[in-house]
Amino acid sequence: MILVTGAAGFIGSNFVLDWLGACDEPVINLDKLTYAGNLENFASLAGDERHIFIQGDIGDSARVSKLLAEYQPRAVINFAAESHVDRSILGPADFIQTNVVGTFGLLEAVRAYWGALPEKERALFRFLHVSTDEVYGSLEPDAPAFTETHRYEPNSPYSASKAASDHLVRAYHHTYGLPVLTTNCSNNYGPYHFPEKLIPLCIHNALAGKPLPIYGDGQQIRDWLYVKDHCSAIRRVLEAGRLGEVYNIGGWNEKANLDVVNTLCHILDEEQPRVDGKSYAEQVTFVTDRPGHDRRYAIDATKLERELGWKPAETFETGIRKTVRWYLDNQDWVANVTSGTYREWTAKQYTL
Ligand code: NAD
Ligand code: DAU
Repeated sequence: MILVTGAAGFIGSNFVLDWLGACDEPVINLDKLTYAGNLENFASLAGDERHIFIQGDIGDSARVSKLLAEYQPRAVINFAAESHVDRSILGPADFIQTNVVGTFGLLEAVRAYWGALPEKERALFRFLHVSTDEVYGSLEPDAPAFTETHRYEPNSPYSASKAASDHLVRAYHHTYGLPVLTTNCSNNYGPYHFPEKLIPLCIHNALAGKPLPIYGDGQQIRDWLYVKDHCSAIRRVLEAGRLGEVYNIGGWNEKANLDVVNTLCHILDEEQPRVDGKSYAEQVTFVTDRPGHDRRYAIDATKLERELGWKPAETFETGIRKTVRWYLDNQDWVANVTSGTYREWTAKQYTL
């Protein structure tokens, strides 16, 4: 089996659902259930013994060590993190605690477990650390996309904490020989995305008749990847990645924020027109910029394609349509998240 941390969040839950859709290898889901963790995402797995949920903190080495000894996973995939840049600006402490100190605690437990495995299992074991393109900093408009050798220049407390965790993972490979893999991915979008991030926030606000807040001039560029493509890339790196290597994951979809939001509005205009016949784009509202806002990210995912044959299946146009459709079809999920009701569901469904 595999141990997946932070698996009740946006990307982790997509990863678990896809994994169990594709194979029968059980998953231990270790998640602290912060505001971003939502067990309602696993409603379709109710009663499925292949999904074992454990509430806990990656930084609790003793707890993680016990879990590792009990379940003997062949791999650990670390998604657990505080992930929202704006929250890291308002209050960086949780980001340092989970992303830096927490990753350290997890690495210590994994190092001890891996070190004591019989030789054959030791050779097959993997620790895959899920990271972000934000560690590379901000690009000039005409600069080439980030490759894996781009220097680290994190600009927000979030990206600095992720950079620190990447360095720890690297050091555990270099110093102790821990069999690690690191992935640095661009902006994800898709089902189960918490409506604090740009795309789900704007879909939610558009339908609620609220303003669509665009920071600054809206010309900041992100590279967008459909979440299920991120999941397939992680599966491929886990399967065949070279030990100690870093793999960039991206969608080759550079878009300015304002263009992303206008695209969302046009799809919503078709799928669920406003009652007054006007476009949702009329709700776009320019607001104060994010402090230290990175202007442009772009990922060069050539290495992953060349070495492991991975390419994204979705274009931005196909992925964003699927995403809007998912949100329209899952308004209850959004309502439960925005009202906080998902926490009550968790208490009813699981004994934690
Ligand atoms: P998310 O915020 O939706 O989910 C994070 C999950 O981690 C939540 O379920 C939360 O409860 C859990 N968690 C937080 N602290 C924990 C702790 N101390 N111990 C155990 N669990 C804890 O985040 P996401 O968007 O799914 O991102 C997952 C990972 O992917 C993160 O490491 C993030 O840095 C990385 N990443 C995200 C994106 C993106 O666009 N969302 C892109 C690239 C990389
Ligand atoms: O690049 C990968 C990163 O993508 C991940 O590491 C992070 O975990 C993830 O949250 C995401 O970070 P961003 O800051 O890029 O995502 P967010 O959705 O918060 O913002 C996307 C862009 O939209 C960014 O330029 C800020 C802008 N924005 C965001 C919000 C929430 C707005 O203009 N208005 C908003 O209300």
